[in-house]
Amino acid sequence: MCCCENDLDFPLEEVRYQFKLLNHQIFLNVADQSMPGNYWLQAVRDFFDFQECGRMEDVPNQDIATHPFLMAATYEAIERCARLIGAHKEEVTLMYRPLQAFNLIVNDMLEAMQEWRAADNVVFTDLTYPSAVYVFMGLRDRCGVELRCVKNVDGEILIEDLEKAVDERTRLVAINRTTPFCGFTYNVKEVCRIAHKVGALVMDDAFQAVGAIDVDVHDDDVDFLVTGSYKWQNGPEGAGIFYIRRDLIEKINPRYRNYLAIEMPKGIPFSLADHDNVQSWDYPQIQTAQKFSQDVITGPSAFGWLAALKFIEKLGIKNIEKRVRKLGQYLIEGLRSLNVTFQCSTDPEKVHGLITYTTGGEERDQACFERFNFPPIGKKPIKVSLRMLGGVGGIRVSPHYYNTVEEIDTFLETQGEILASMRKK
Ligand SMILES: Cc1ncc(COP(=O)(O)O)c(C=O)c1O
Repeated sequence: MCCCENDLDFPLEEVRYQFKLLNHQIFLNVADQSMPGNYWLQAVRDFFDFQECGRMEDVPNQDIATHPFLMAATYEAIERCARLIGAHKEEVTLMYRPLQAFNLIVNDMLEAMQEWRAADNVVFTDLTYPSAVYVFMGLRDRCGVELRCVKNVDGEILIEDLEKAVDERTRLVAINRTTPFCGFTYNVKEVCRIAHKVGALVMDDAFQAVGAIDVDVHDDDVDFLVTGSYKWQNGPEGAGIFYIRRDLIEKINPRYRNYLAIEMPKGIPFSLADHDNVQSWDYPQIQTAQKFSQDVITGPSAFGWLAALKFIEKLGIKNIEKRVRKLGQYLIEGLRSLNVTFQCSTDPEKVHGLITYTTGGEERDQACFERFNFPPIGKKPIKVSLRMLGGVGGIRVSPHYYNTVEEIDTFLETQGEILASMRKK
């Protein structure tokens, strides 16, 4: 088997030190929720310490004492988010989680552009995470919008099937850049080309991709991209990226009105003698992504998220991607020799480090899952998930850059032992 050298430019020990839980478990489950990293836990503690003690040396008072949406930490996080996905900082703001962004895009922004009608359709797939689909179901029930669900073929969405589903009445094509339960990773540029040909917009939920692989929204020509921070980006809950393509910003006048996202000629007017709650606020909205911000990020999330973004930059997303892909392929090779059935593509172009397979049915997979999680005394639990959607799924394994080859070997050996004991029964 190949040896996955470390591409991170940092000793793996140093990187692993940030994740204390690695001492206690073999964690191959970042597609579910990442372990907390010391770097962001410390940033959150610093935030609370400062609030409690008024500690001044590290953070300017004005920053930490203001609302999160006015903090320097928030602005810096936005800039770093933009760098991470190849966007301009004006095209990015923060969201709490994808669910919030889906509601904003579908029920507010697109509705404000043009009311939804029964003749419209939305294209998604049977591998799309259900939170977006549930929002689309509201459109179906309220406005009669047609929902077109493209079916996967053995855990892959064929681009020709997607193309067939899209027509001139398609307003939105919704994809998960990497599907959450079987790891299929799209050629997003191709999806955008197909959608744009008929004037449809693309909403790219990249929660299972950003932080694992290098994403370039401009090169792909994506219209909206959303993420949360607590999976491959290894950040705290409560912060995520919302990207909107620059030329769409002016075209959309959201119904959610944010009084702080306006051109204020004299800054926030609270202390001005002539402060008037109509006149002083009667200015045009700013034409950046901030116009769509619902400003729901809290102070600890902003500080933790910023620390997480700095950590990704320190390691380098291109280095992370190399390592994630190598570990993914190493895992695939190991599983191949165990004769399990892959529930994901094994083509390195279509999968990164999110790998799903079955040992031969729900009951057997469940038994494996229990053995992984509740090992005999003296062995570390192995954290993986059980996931099914659209008729594919089973055991989902998701190594990240901090995992070692030895950990994957232990996982493979354990899976081999479980299969052997099943054969004996
Ligand atoms: C691709 C994807 N989107 C969204 C979510 C969940 O976020 P929310 O509940 O905010 O939609 C998940 C969680 O697993 C996910 O994998």
